[in-house]
Amino acid sequence: MKQLTTAQLRELYLRFFEERGHAAISSASLVPENDPTALFTMAGMHPLVPYLLGQKHPSGRRLVNVQKCVRTGDIDEVGDASHCTFFEMLGNWSLGDYFKEEAIAWSWEFLTGEEWLGINPDKLYFTCFAGDESAPRDTEAFEAWLKAGVEPSHIFFLGKEHNWWGPAGVTGPCGPDTEMFIDTGKPACGEGCFPGCRCGKYLEIWNDVFMQYNKTADGKFLPLAQRNVDTGMGLERTVATLQGAESVYDTDAFAGILGRIAELSGKGYRDDAETTRAFRIIADHMRTATFMLGDQRGVAPSNVDQGYILRRIIRRALRYAMKIGMPEQSLSNVAQAVIDTYCGVYAELEANRGRIINELNAEEMRFQRTLVHGMREFERIKGSFADGVVDGKSAFRLFDTFGFPIEFTVEMAGENGLRVDVEGFNAAFAEHQAKSKAGAEQKFKGGLADASEQTARLHSATHLLQAALRKVLNDENVAQKGSNITAERLRFDFSFPRKVTPEELREVERLVNEAIAADVEITCEEMTVPEARERGAIGLFGDKYGERVKVYTMGEFSCEICGGPHAARTGELGMFKIKKEEASSAGVRRIKAVLE
Ligand code: ALA
Repeated sequence: MKQLTTAQLRELYLRFFEERGHAAISSASLVPENDPTALFTMAGMHPLVPYLLGQKHPSGRRLVNVQKCVRTGDIDEVGDASHCTFFEMLGNWSLGDYFKEEAIAWSWEFLTGEEWLGINPDKLYFTCFAGDESAPRDTEAFEAWLKAGVEPSHIFFLGKEHNWWGPAGVTGPCGPDTEMFIDTGKPACGEGCFPGCRCGKYLEIWNDVFMQYNKTADGKFLPLAQRNVDTGMGLERTVATLQGAESVYDTDAFAGILGRIAELSGKGYRDDAETTRAFRIIADHMRTATFMLGDQRGVAPSNVDQGYILRRIIRRALRYAMKIGMPEQSLSNVAQAVIDTYCGVYAELEANRGRIINELNAEEMRFQRTLVHGMREFERIKGSFADGVVDGKSAFRLFDTFGFPIEFTVEMAGENGLRVDVEGFNAAFAEHQAKSKAGAEQKFKGGLADASEQTARLHSATHLLQAALRKVLNDENVAQKGSNITAERLRFDFSFPRKVTPEELREVERLVNEAIAADVEITCEEMTVPEARERGAIGLFGDKYGERVKVYTMGEFSCEICGGPHAARTGELGMFKIKKEEASSAGVRRIKAVLE
């Protein structure tokens, strides 16, 4: 087995397939084009879906590349030996050209050939699809491995959860796959241990997917007109396996980045387990953030979609940077090490160097401001805790609403002679995660986005908008006709007989922003419908006798019946901006607005 560096494996893979008639194409953007179901490119096949479905690719029917990928599903597990939020995937494609036999013969040659990876065949294991009601057992793949020279005892048949590829729940090209594993030589975890077992004895290094089906919206698997091959080899993981490294962080790809963190913090990567974990988290997150910021379709930190994930990653890195004593504004210095490591392969990083550094420094400053707000809120509420304990719900509110990390709450509580119910915090956190995961999966299928906080803010802004419209248009008959909120914008339909003038819109905007600047608390009370009416609440009144409703009040600005959820204070909303005013239907106007 050869000890290859990251650059060598990249180069070797491309050369192997170029010599076999494949055109090398460059990595697509990390941000998928024309695909609202995913926030980031998660596999090499992702940008190629139109071609897998039959469109002609300008470079031909045999392709090879290294694709930048981001998977943030397990962000909280980053720091152990195997999780990374960014990785490079090597892949070769047949778009209706060769199929199983050639793909498998080449995989075998690349893995075992002396000129290539030179892995001892005794150490290699393979899995094939066992078959089920949607597709038959993949005996073709099995036969192809035998033909290549594999011992039958090294081939296992497994079910769909192991040997099938196609983005779960999404329609599109999919099919059985065959996976390739290296036996690390570690003892088996038990009698049932097999390639595909997660105990760590067998490490997966490559996956050949045979796309023969198109999954339709009604869950059918129809044969594709064009049969394709899509393969994926995780670059970092394979290098780590070939080098016998303990983790991907212990390969040459991370050496420069970890070295820079050591210089900046004055600590050593191997000082103790906690420090090792912090180094890995900072290294992983800064690599991901650098690639997102420096992407050809550059992402900027924000509260929605890709920008929200980026913000979370940068802030998590910042927390660990503070923990190990890195000075302020030093994350951008770590980013420089990432750029230096990768700019030879990804020219966009060099081209965007200035932007990457500026955005990181700006986000760090914004985070510092968040911390100041959180501290102020803590000072405000610290007298109200019974028995000297900050309860879990309050700690969670500081985290969720103010972005104030739990470690900071614990620290401030300690300084004030208080204790924090961290278990209660964890419970509230888990509950929130379960809820937002369910919500995010509906929207993005991949389960990547959590836009619930921003949605709540836009919802609160809608209340302020309605109140301001009533004031400016001097018309008690301005009544809500409809409202629709996405993570990006609000849309509000209301009865009004004519176009709202630009002057009137500007005044509405001003009033809403005034209410935001006043930073009043948003309170919620439950009461009966007559009580709500008496209070002067607007909104839809229930028509069932005795029904209780929720009334949300924002200081003097707004009082409305509504189910929620809302932000905790108007000050959290940001800058309100009307983007459009138009007719929706006869006598009904529509406003679209955003929070910046
Ligand atoms: N698309 C396949 C994967 O990501 C190759 O594993």
